[in-house]
Amino acid sequence: MTNRRYIIGGNWKMFKTPAEAASAAKALKVKLINVENVDVVVCPPAVDIVPVVEMLKESTVRVSGQNMHWEDDGAFTGEISAGMLKDAGCDYVVLGHSERRHVFGETNTEVNKKVLKALARGLKPIFCVGEKLEEREAGKTESVVGAQVREGLAGVSVESADDLVIAYEPVWAIGTGVTATPEHAEDVHRYIRELLADVFSPGLASRLRIQYGGSVKPSNAESLLSRENIDGALVGGASLDPDSFTEIVKAAENLST
Ligand code: 13P
Repeated sequence: MTNRRYIIGGNWKMFKTPAEAASAAKALKVKLINVENVDVVVCPPAVDIVPVVEMLKESTVRVSGQNMHWEDDGAFTGEISAGMLKDAGCDYVVLGHSERRHVFGETNTEVNKKVLKALARGLKPIFCVGEKLEEREAGKTESVVGAQVREGLAGVSVESADDLVIAYEPVWAIGTGVTATPEHAEDVHRYIRELLADVFSPGLASRLRIQYGGSVKPSNAESLLSRENIDGALVGGASLDPDSFTEIVKAAENLST
């Protein structure tokens, strides 16, 4: 990493009841109290957001939604809007996570509508991209990720793009225990930064942060985060335990001082 500030996210996916989430947030508030120079974001399930926000008052840890609809409101049973997330106390929202794309069939076009709405409503998108194993094996990583970036960010203005965070999460590395090598991750991150330079501008691309996600844990965090184009991590399984998540945040802090 160069002069960008690390951003470490904990994606809790569909884990933790409201009481369990509040207890994890309480633990993180204490453990991370003296952490400096790192942005820390937790992404709890929707019903946990309010108790987690409440628990993290007077903490620097920020809260993110895991998904949202692109409409402001309407007859969309089971959905949640940008305005609801914002009013509940979220600063960020994860969009286009591979589980949304591949389990629930979200398309680049839908993710794009969500990105545009989140930015319009003052939420910072954590915009996820990544290739599947068969795409990687067929040598299609760059074309798949390229289409996700270009189509997912279509119509985003240079002025609003400063609020974006990108997460590169190769699908074959998520929840599998298989981590992309730092070399593979760095190569794709560099490619994404070149794309961002083309889509927006070289100056903006150099400022935007690109997180790596996929089996990040305390034992591999430093080797990933020390790469030039890896500006943070989006952590799934290892974020559920406040101790291991704190270790990953501290690895970022150590590298930034
Ligand atoms: P794991 O860290 O469990 O592989 O999950 C990564 C992820 O999907 C984070 O969004």
